[in-house]
Amino acid sequence: MMSPFEMNRNLDYLEEVLKTVPAYVEAFQAVFGGEITRQRVAMAIAAFERTLLSRDTPLDRHLRREPGALSSRQRAGLDLFLGKAGCAMCHNGPNLTDEQFHNLGVPEDPKAQEDPRVLATARFVAKVSGFPDYRTLRDDPGRFLVTKDPVDWKTFATPPLREVAATAPYMHNGALRTLEEVIDFYDRGGGDDPKKSPLLKPLGLTREEKEALKDFLAGGVSGTVLEIHPPRVP
Ligand code: HEC
Repeated sequence: MMSPFEMNRNLDYLEEVLKTVPAYVEAFQAVFGGEITRQRVAMAIAAFERTLLSRDTPLDRHLRREPGALSSRQRAGLDLFLGKAGCAMCHNGPNLTDEQFHNLGVPEDPKAQEDPRVLATARFVAKVSGFPDYRTLRDDPGRFLVTKDPVDWKTFATPPLREVAATAPYMHNGALRTLEEVIDFYDRGGGDDPKKSPLLKPLGLTREEKEALKDFLAGGVSGTVLEIHPPRVP
């Protein structure tokens, strides 16, 4: 709640500001039998996040052998995902992630690098992670910040691909704006970094293959969208 990357809120202020919203005062009373505290706010957020599940996507129904769950083009996209395009080497399992870290050579986003707020946030995180040269840092060191092991330089977690149509822009820094750009990026064999993963190779996808893969990602892995109407916080 305090992280500048997340809510950037002072906790004393957060408690007071939430207490000015009658709907939250009542809801905390009903659920916790007491007033709003930072601990209860954290518990409420955690409980809320556990309800945000992606389920019953066309891919889930296809895997349950429901006929016609995926369109024929989406099925062609799934075949590419599992085969020629090699996506499932890293995006596999129930959430389409191997839960590992890889360097894909994702380019830095020049616009973000010029934004002093992004730079200050990146340097703040580097500083509290004990990175000695944090003031001259321009590139995002990725997992290296946590492990300080050179093999982790610019590696990032494989993200789940459930609901990916709704999570643009893509990659850790949002450098790729659309699913088309992501597919073109993989088709080129990833970025220029000499230390990028050896799993990435130019794919030689045809235009039809790119469209099938996009159709699968855009429509095949999205489930029912939850509608949320939270009370307004001043
Ligand atoms: C070597 C492992 C690997 C392979 C192979 C791979 N990915 Fe990824 N994928 C990743 C990692 C790691 C990231 C996160 C990179 C980052 O944040 O900079 C990612 C990110 C993505 C994202 C962005 C998700 C988001 O929410 O930002 C999409 C979409 C994606 N991959 C689709 C694919 C497709 C389609 C293929 C096949 C053409 C593929 N991936 C192949 C590891 C892989």
